[in-house]
Parts: sequence; C-alpha cells; structure tokens
Amino acid sequence: MIYPVFLYGSPVLRKVAAEVPEDYPDLDHLIDSMFETMYHSEGIGLAAPQIGKSLRIFVIDASPLEEDDPSLKDFKRVFINPQIISYEGEPEKYNEGCLSIPEIREDVERETSVMIRFCDKYFRYREEYFEGIAARIIQHEYDHLEGKLFIDRISPLRKRLLKRKLTSISKGKVDVRYRVKHV
Ligand code: NI
Repeated sequence: MIYPVFLYGSPVLRKVAAEVPEDYPDLDHLIDSMFETMYHSEGIGLAAPQIGKSLRIFVIDASPLEEDDPSLKDFKRVFINPQIISYEGEPEKYNEGCLSIPEIREDVERETSVMIRFCDKYFRYREEYFEGIAARIIQHEYDHLEGKLFIDRISPLRKRLLKRKLTSISKGKVDVRYRVKHV
C-alpha cells in the first residue's frame, strides 16, 4: 500500500516516535508498505513518521547510489527500534534531501561512521557498523525518529533563506509526482 508522504509542517514529523512493540499487528504489511511508498516516491530512505506513524522504524534501499559507492549495491534494510550506540570519524558535509521537504537540498555535516543496534523484521537484535553514505542515510532516518529534520542541522542563516520555501511546503505547495499530505 502506498501512503502519502507527510510534508514539513506536519506535527507527526516533530514527535519523538514510540518503540515498535514485538506484537505490533501486521508488521510485515507496514514494512512492505514503507518500501512501496519509498520506491514510489523515488527515495532511498523512509521513516514511519513520514507516513504519519509515530513509530521507531525506518527502511533504506541505497542501491540507486551504487555508482557513488559500490558497497551500497545490496544495502537494503529495515531498522526497527534502532539505537545509535556510537559515532566515529571526523564530521563531513554531504548534500541531503528529504521526501518530506521536497525541492530543497542542503549540505549537512554528520559523523562518518556509526555503530547501531536494532531489530530486524523477525525482531532479532543485531549490532552493525556502517560508514560513508550508509552511515549518512542511517543518521538522517534516525533523526526522523527523534522528531528532527535535516534543516535543523544547517546554519540559521541558510534556514532563514529557505523560510519562504518551507512555508509553501507546509501548505502543500509542492510540485512532486508522489502523494503528499500536509496538516
Ligand atoms: Ni528525510
């Protein structure tokens, strides 16, 4: 099922999301729908708050970025109740975008690698290390679960310059090919 993507300005994007209970009804369906929504909107990551569900789950498929980084070829994953347990490396800048903030891209500084603990779709605990673009996407999606957006990580001056555009987005005035929802 393809969900509409909630746009900047929707309160759900600013909430700290709740843990996913192990007996969450039809978790498989939710995961499938998140992948489907992400592919439909041509994203490489999607967090549950972006489809209006305040839950700690995000999906990633970074294979479209294989040309930039061959290790991303098979980086398709669901992260349930993730916890970033450590960051490493010197912060680096990279140009980011977000399905909830269409038509805006900004350089965002983030750590270069992370160690993350999470549950897979069978609710098995795993701990893994990611670096480079994979670590970047994970940090972006993880922020969504904390009610944060990438524009919170840019300079106040840059943000001021985007203010008018952000206001239009919050009113649903965007030109995108996927379904969106604004509140
Ligand atoms: Ni995003």
